[in-house]
Amino acid sequence: MPALKLLLVEDDRIVRIPVRDALVDAGYLVTDCADGTSAQRLLTSETFDIVLSDVRLPGVDGLSLFRLARGLQPPPAVVLMTAYADTDHAVTAMREGVRDYVLKPFEMDELLLRLGSVRDEVQFRLRVGRAQLMEASELGQQLAGATPAMAQLRERLEAAAASDIAVLLAGETGTGKDLAARLVHQRSARAERPFVAVNCAAIPENLFESEMFGHERGAFTGAERRRAGRFEAADRGTLFLDEVGELSLPNQAKLLRAIESSSFEPVGATETKRVDVRVISATNRDLSDAVTTGAFRRDLFYRLKVIDVRLPPLREHRADIPLLVGKFLTDIAGRLGKPTQVLSPAAAAALATHDYPGNVRELLHALERAVALARGKPISLEHLPIELARVMPPSADTGLRPLEEAVEQFERQYIERALEQAEGHRGRAASLLGISRKSLWERLRDAQAEAQLKKGKPPSP
Ligand SMILES: Nc1ncnc2c1ncn2[C@@H]1O[C@H](COP(=O)(O)OP(=O)(O)OP(=O)(O)O)[C@@H](O)[C@H]1O
Ligand SMILES: [Mg+2]
Repeated sequence: MPALKLLLVEDDRIVRIPVRDALVDAGYLVTDCADGTSAQRLLTSETFDIVLSDVRLPGVDGLSLFRLARGLQPPPAVVLMTAYADTDHAVTAMREGVRDYVLKPFEMDELLLRLGSVRDEVQFRLRVGRAQLMEASELGQQLAGATPAMAQLRERLEAAAASDIAVLLAGETGTGKDLAARLVHQRSARAERPFVAVNCAAIPENLFESEMFGHERGAFTGAERRRAGRFEAADRGTLFLDEVGELSLPNQAKLLRAIESSSFEPVGATETKRVDVRVISATNRDLSDAVTTGAFRRDLFYRLKVIDVRLPPLREHRADIPLLVGKFLTDIAGRLGKPTQVLSPAAAAALATHDYPGNVRELLHALERAVALARGKPISLEHLPIELARVMPPSADTGLRPLEEAVEQFERQYIERALEQAEGHRGRAASLLGISRKSLWERLRDAQAEAQLKKGKPPSP
């Protein structure tokens, strides 16, 4: 478990120094100060896990510090110390959510013991957060795929996770950018800290600043309370800027400044807040194009894409379709607590040859829909969305055609796809299809012969 950050507030030097030293020895990352006003400033400019504060302080008192801390995101656990046996005060404080109340003078061991249980609690909370993330990833959320394209993608994401630098994910809609961003966070050293996702396209332009950086009470009409922004919420964690290409130029400038300086001013605030945030961003547009046309700042572009990762569209790794179909059908069945549904050959063929402009999401949704419609029976063409089922047009009169012909057409189309993906390299296409080069060659020859026969030409020797 990472060390916890603790803010020690105590005006009496004779108490503060030994307590600070004992806490440092016990493994806490300690910041100390001697008055309430400095404590207040520290609390709003950094994130602490625990606050250990005297009650009577020059400036702002301990209870007011607690009330401030309670509103922070995430709120630190607060322990108060006092020399006055004021039980009323203690009861009020504990009822409001102060974690513990220590009477002075205390033995150092006793203090450490009490703080130890607060620390366990904080770490437990962090672990639960992490377990929830892990569970989400085990619920079939991993980036599946056995093709070299997907293996490469996973490798790149692992490398990104092992570093702490900015990652830009580029890919069409539904290719798994969101999933990839979460994976990078989960496998990074920040896994136990927050993952905060912001959809840049969904924030109205004029609200961007207060949404990202927060605002003070009374900063503008309607700002009744101080509110933490997304940057602050992501402190020591990961900030995921989805659809970052949609930001206006002025907002790009604000974002760049915050990223470069690791700090910002909440709207209406005079103090600067410092944060430690790892930025992952995603785009489904070609940002380098946007840079050329001046719609996206070049400096921000380079700042965001220290590591750039391209998520391939599904049509570029079609060989993964059967695997994805199998995985999704199992996942869906698992969620419903029902046996996994099977596919008719025609439905399997249609799924394998479709172009998927919506990529993996489109495939997933098609299967969810099909499972619902088929109600336990094998999934057939009629359960697939029309644009998928149309892959092999049936003859007009019966709606069917000879099986052999359909299978041949499917085989031909499938081989063409493999060749396309292998950029015409037959050996690679054969291995994508799991057949020998010889077998591929024979099939190609048959298909060619047949095509020429249909055109009334004799097959070439
Ligand atoms: N390789 C994969 N293996 C398993 N599931 C995947 C894979 N790729 C994508 N998915 C699933 O497909 C769906 C869409 O993925 P995601 O939301 O990450 O796409 P996106 O790239 O963020 O799309 P958009 O640009 O539209 O936001 C999600 O349910 C995700 O879990
Ligand atoms: Mg997304």
